[in-house]
Amino acid sequence: MNTRVDEIADGIFRLSTFVPEVAAPAGFTFNQFLILGDEPLLFHTGPRRMFPLVREAVGRLMPPEHLRWISFGHVEADECGAMNEWLAIAPHALVAHGETAVSVSLNDLADRTPRMLRDGEVIALGGGKRVRYLDTPHTPHAWEAAVVYEESTGTLLCGDLFTQVGEGPALVSGDIVGPAVAAEDLFRYSSLNPNMGTTIRSLAGLSPRTLGLMHGPAFSGDGSTALRALADDYDRRAQLREVDADHAEAA
Ligand SMILES: [Fe+2]
Ligand SMILES: [Fe+2]
Repeated sequence: MNTRVDEIADGIFRLSTFVPEVAAPAGFTFNQFLILGDEPLLFHTGPRRMFPLVREAVGRLMPPEHLRWISFGHVEADECGAMNEWLAIAPHALVAHGETAVSVSLNDLADRTPRMLRDGEVIALGGGKRVRYLDTPHTPHAWEAAVVYEESTGTLLCGDLFTQVGEGPALVSGDIVGPAVAAEDLFRYSSLNPNMGTTIRSLAGLSPRTLGLMHGPAFSGDGSTALRALADDYDRRAQLREVDADHAEAA
């Protein structure tokens, strides 16, 4: 296994490791995103066992011990399994996440006291980079779920949203909604809930120009349209579930 590194927006790098055994035969990518600045931020750490690969990949871009911020979509191994390995090698690094993740899990799991972020709070990384933290509870899964948006480049790091299988180019401009719908059909990984469409549609209001997918390529283009189409698909799924529940009740 090796980790490829590609710049997907000015100063924002996608570190991508393809694992053929996951979701075989298509395989599956695990991506982290490094935003460079005076206070560099890593979004997703990768699982613990991937730490040597991710550390080496970060080392191609900056000294890993200079990492300042560690954030991620939610508390799962591929999102944050290696956070304590990072805290151990980067003495000024802090985990940054929302109130739910910090109070429920990270105050206990993280080896250094995390920085708690309010919904909508911005961390200025220096070098013009500004990262806005946004709560997306239960979307696509986990109570503490969140995304981050880098304002200067219009880059939304959208975690497990738009998950797709397979290995493709680092950056695409074609359809990412069809492959995401297919992966949802395959994995059923989302916590379908009545607010899901609304939550995803609210991200469309950011008008992102680049989307960083945790499992899939990055997307360059009209992020709003892609987010609205994904929201529509989840609304459709939620309605289908309601109809199923009504039928079960009537039976
Ligand atoms: Fe996840
Ligand atoms: Fe993930």
